[in-house]
Amino acid sequence: MGGHAADRRDPGVDCNPRPLPGARGANSLPAPVFNFMALRANTALCTFANSWHLPRVIREEFQKKHAEFLAAAERAQWVPADILQRAQLSDIFERPAPLEVDIGCGEGAFLLEMARRHPERNFLGIERLLGRVSKVCRAAAREGLTNVRVLRLESAYVMKHILPLGSVSVAYVSFPDPWPKRHH
Ligand SMILES: C[S@@+](CC[C@H](N)C(=O)[O-])C[C@H]1O[C@@H](n2cnc3c(N)ncnc32)[C@H](O)[C@@H]1O
Repeated sequence: MGGHAADRRDPGVDCNPRPLPGARGANSLPAPVFNFMALRANTALCTFANSWHLPRVIREEFQKKHAEFLAAAERAQWVPADILQRAQLSDIFERPAPLEVDIGCGEGAFLLEMARRHPERNFLGIERLLGRVSKVCRAAAREGLTNVRVLRLESAYVMKHILPLGSVSVAYVSFPDPWPKRHH
Protein backbone atom coordinates (compact mmCIF):
# COMPACT_ATOMS: atom_id res chain seq x y z
CA MET A 1 0.00 0.00 0.00
CA GLY A 2 2.88 2.30 0.76
CA GLY A 3 3.79 2.30 -2.94
CA HIS A 4 0.87 4.45 -4.09
CA ALA A 5 1.83 7.28 -6.37
CA ALA A 6 -0.45 9.57 -4.36
CA ASP A 7 1.41 8.64 -1.15
CA ARG A 8 4.74 9.63 -2.61
CA ARG A 9 3.40 12.84 -4.07
CA ASP A 10 1.55 14.06 -1.00
CA PRO A 11 3.28 13.19 2.26
CA GLY A 12 1.37 15.81 4.25
CA VAL A 13 -2.16 14.60 4.85
CA ASP A 14 -4.64 11.94 3.76
CA CYS A 15 -4.86 12.69 0.07
CA ASN A 16 -7.83 10.46 -0.64
CA PRO A 17 -10.45 12.78 0.71
CA ARG A 18 -14.10 11.97 1.06
CA PRO A 19 -16.43 14.91 1.51
CA LEU A 20 -18.04 14.64 4.92
CA PRO A 21 -21.80 14.08 4.65
CA GLY A 22 -22.56 16.98 6.99
CA ALA A 23 -19.95 19.32 5.56
CA ARG A 24 -21.02 22.86 4.73
CA GLY A 25 -21.86 23.11 1.06
CA ALA A 26 -22.54 19.39 0.67
CA ASN A 27 -26.27 20.01 0.52
CA SER A 28 -26.29 23.33 -1.29
CA LEU A 29 -24.05 22.37 -4.21
CA PRO A 30 -24.58 19.61 -6.74
CA ALA A 31 -22.55 16.58 -5.61
CA PRO A 32 -20.09 16.58 -8.56
CA VAL A 33 -19.30 20.26 -8.00
CA PHE A 34 -18.84 19.78 -4.26
CA ASN A 35 -16.66 16.67 -4.74
CA PHE A 36 -14.53 18.53 -7.28
CA MET A 37 -14.06 21.47 -4.91
CA ALA A 38 -13.27 19.19 -1.96
CA LEU A 39 -10.68 17.37 -4.02
CA ARG A 40 -9.10 20.63 -5.21
CA ALA A 41 -8.98 21.96 -1.65
CA ASN A 42 -7.36 18.79 -0.35
CA THR A 43 -4.85 18.66 -3.18
CA ALA A 44 -3.91 22.25 -2.41
CA LEU A 45 -3.50 21.32 1.26
CA CYS A 46 -1.24 18.39 0.38
CA THR A 47 0.89 20.59 -1.84
CA PHE A 48 1.01 23.25 0.86
CA ALA A 49 2.00 20.75 3.54
CA ASN A 50 4.84 19.61 1.37
CA SER A 51 5.96 23.13 0.59
CA TRP A 52 9.24 24.60 1.79
CA HIS A 53 7.40 27.86 2.46
CA LEU A 54 5.69 26.18 5.40
CA PRO A 55 7.39 26.47 8.79
CA ARG A 56 9.43 23.34 9.39
CA VAL A 57 7.58 22.41 12.59
CA ILE A 58 4.21 22.44 10.86
CA ARG A 59 5.50 20.60 7.82
CA GLU A 60 7.04 17.91 10.01
CA GLU A 61 3.83 17.60 12.00
CA PHE A 62 1.86 17.06 8.78
CA GLN A 63 4.39 14.52 7.58
CA LYS A 64 4.35 12.66 10.90
CA LYS A 65 0.56 12.45 10.89
CA HIS A 66 0.52 11.22 7.33
CA ALA A 67 3.17 8.60 8.07
CA GLU A 68 1.07 7.37 11.02
CA PHE A 69 -1.99 7.23 8.80
CA LEU A 70 -0.16 5.22 6.14
CA ALA A 71 1.22 2.81 8.73
CA ALA A 72 -2.28 2.23 10.14
CA ALA A 73 -3.67 1.68 6.63
CA GLU A 74 -0.91 -0.80 5.94
CA ARG A 75 -1.64 -2.66 9.19
CA ALA A 76 -5.30 -2.94 8.15
CA GLN A 77 -4.33 -5.09 5.20
CA TRP A 78 -3.64 -8.68 6.10
CA VAL A 79 -1.01 -10.34 3.95
CA PRO A 80 -0.56 -13.98 4.99
CA ALA A 81 3.04 -15.02 5.50
CA ASP A 82 2.50 -18.08 3.30
CA ILE A 83 -0.54 -18.54 1.10
CA LEU A 84 0.22 -22.23 0.73
CA GLN A 85 -0.37 -22.82 4.44
CA ARG A 86 -3.42 -22.52 6.61
CA ALA A 87 -3.16 -19.48 8.87
CA GLN A 88 -3.73 -19.22 12.61
CA LEU A 89 -6.37 -16.86 13.98
CA SER A 90 -3.65 -14.98 15.83
CA ASP A 91 -1.98 -14.21 12.48
CA ILE A 92 -5.00 -12.14 11.53
CA PHE A 93 -5.91 -10.42 14.79
CA GLU A 94 -3.80 -10.29 17.92
CA ARG A 95 -6.92 -9.93 20.02
CA PRO A 96 -9.03 -13.11 20.27
CA ALA A 97 -12.67 -12.35 19.37
CA PRO A 98 -15.37 -13.91 17.20
CA LEU A 99 -14.35 -13.64 13.56
CA GLU A 100 -16.84 -12.44 10.96
CA VAL A 101 -15.94 -12.50 7.29
CA ASP A 102 -17.31 -10.31 4.51
CA ILE A 103 -16.74 -12.19 1.25
CA GLY A 104 -16.25 -9.74 -1.64
CA CYS A 105 -16.38 -6.72 0.65
CA GLY A 106 -16.06 -4.22 -2.21
CA GLU A 107 -15.47 -0.73 -0.91
CA GLY A 108 -16.31 -1.87 2.59
CA ALA A 109 -19.48 0.05 3.46
CA PHE A 110 -21.01 -2.96 5.21
CA LEU A 111 -17.76 -4.21 6.70
CA LEU A 112 -16.84 -0.83 8.19
CA GLU A 113 -20.31 -0.21 9.55
CA MET A 114 -20.32 -3.62 11.25
CA ALA A 115 -16.88 -2.90 12.71
CA ARG A 116 -18.10 0.43 14.08
CA ARG A 117 -21.20 -1.13 15.61
CA HIS A 118 -19.49 -4.22 17.05
CA PRO A 119 -16.07 -3.31 18.41
CA GLU A 120 -16.10 -6.57 20.40
CA ARG A 121 -15.89 -8.64 17.20
CA ASN A 122 -13.16 -9.01 14.57
CA PHE A 123 -14.00 -8.43 10.90
CA LEU A 124 -12.10 -9.71 7.91
CA GLY A 125 -12.96 -8.45 4.43
CA ILE A 126 -11.93 -10.53 1.45
CA GLU A 127 -11.66 -8.66 -1.82
CA ARG A 128 -9.74 -9.33 -4.99
CA LEU A 129 -9.47 -5.77 -6.34
CA LEU A 130 -6.50 -3.79 -5.08
CA GLY A 131 -8.15 -0.35 -5.34
CA ARG A 132 -11.05 -1.49 -3.18
CA VAL A 133 -8.79 -3.18 -0.63
CA SER A 134 -6.76 -0.02 -0.41
CA LYS A 135 -9.85 2.13 0.04
CA VAL A 136 -11.20 -0.01 2.89
CA CYS A 137 -7.83 -0.04 4.63
CA ARG A 138 -7.56 3.72 4.40
CA ALA A 139 -11.07 4.17 5.75
CA ALA A 140 -10.32 1.82 8.67
CA ALA A 141 -7.13 3.76 9.40
CA ARG A 142 -8.87 7.12 9.18
CA GLU A 143 -11.45 5.99 11.73
CA GLY A 144 -9.01 4.12 13.95
CA LEU A 145 -10.87 0.83 13.54
CA THR A 146 -8.51 -1.87 14.74
CA ASN A 147 -11.05 -4.69 14.48
CA VAL A 148 -11.03 -4.65 10.66
CA ARG A 149 -8.54 -6.23 8.29
CA VAL A 150 -8.74 -6.85 4.59
CA LEU A 151 -7.24 -9.69 2.61
CA ARG A 152 -6.66 -9.34 -1.11
CA LEU A 153 -7.17 -12.84 -2.46
CA GLU A 154 -9.71 -14.96 -4.24
CA SER A 155 -12.39 -15.68 -1.67
CA ALA A 156 -13.07 -19.37 -2.44
CA TYR A 157 -9.38 -20.10 -2.03
CA VAL A 158 -9.26 -18.19 1.26
CA MET A 159 -12.25 -20.01 2.71
CA LYS A 160 -10.97 -23.40 1.61
CA HIS A 161 -7.23 -23.16 2.18
CA ILE A 162 -6.25 -20.14 4.27
CA LEU A 163 -8.66 -19.57 7.14
CA PRO A 164 -8.29 -21.89 10.13
CA LEU A 165 -10.93 -24.63 10.18
CA GLY A 166 -13.98 -23.70 12.24
CA SER A 167 -12.70 -20.17 12.82
CA VAL A 168 -15.47 -18.14 11.18
CA SER A 169 -18.48 -17.37 13.31
CA VAL A 170 -20.42 -15.51 10.58
CA ALA A 171 -19.75 -15.16 6.83
CA TYR A 172 -21.55 -12.48 4.83
CA VAL A 173 -21.96 -12.45 1.06
CA SER A 174 -23.84 -9.40 -0.14
CA PHE A 175 -24.42 -8.54 -3.76
CA PRO A 176 -22.12 -11.27 -5.09
CA ASP A 177 -20.46 -10.61 -8.38
CA PRO A 178 -21.23 -11.62 -11.11
CA TRP A 179 -24.97 -11.69 -10.63
CA PRO A 180 -27.57 -12.67 -13.23
CA LYS A 181 -28.38 -9.73 -15.52
CA ARG A 182 -30.71 -9.62 -18.49
CA HIS A 183 -27.85 -9.33 -20.98
CA HIS A 184 -25.89 -12.26 -19.51
C1 LIG B 1 -21.10 -6.33 -6.39
S1 LIG B 1 -19.69 -6.05 -5.36
C2 LIG B 1 -20.48 -6.06 -3.74
C3 LIG B 1 -19.60 -5.43 -2.73
C4 LIG B 1 -20.13 -5.47 -1.30
N1 LIG B 1 -20.32 -6.81 -0.81
C5 LIG B 1 -21.40 -4.69 -1.17
O1 LIG B 1 -22.40 -5.26 -0.81
O2 LIG B 1 -21.38 -3.48 -1.44
C6 LIG B 1 -18.88 -7.65 -5.37
C7 LIG B 1 -17.44 -7.56 -4.90
O3 LIG B 1 -16.94 -8.87 -4.77
C8 LIG B 1 -15.63 -8.89 -5.29
N2 LIG B 1 -15.42 -10.27 -5.73
C9 LIG B 1 -16.10 -10.95 -6.68
N3 LIG B 1 -15.64 -12.20 -6.77
C10 LIG B 1 -14.64 -12.33 -5.86
C11 LIG B 1 -13.79 -13.39 -5.47
N4 LIG B 1 -13.88 -14.57 -6.06
N5 LIG B 1 -12.89 -13.17 -4.50
C12 LIG B 1 -12.80 -11.95 -3.90
N6 LIG B 1 -13.59 -10.92 -4.22
C13 LIG B 1 -14.50 -11.10 -5.18
C14 LIG B 1 -15.65 -7.91 -6.43
O4 LIG B 1 -14.35 -7.43 -6.73
C15 LIG B 1 -16.54 -6.82 -5.88
O5 LIG B 1 -15.83 -5.84 -5.20
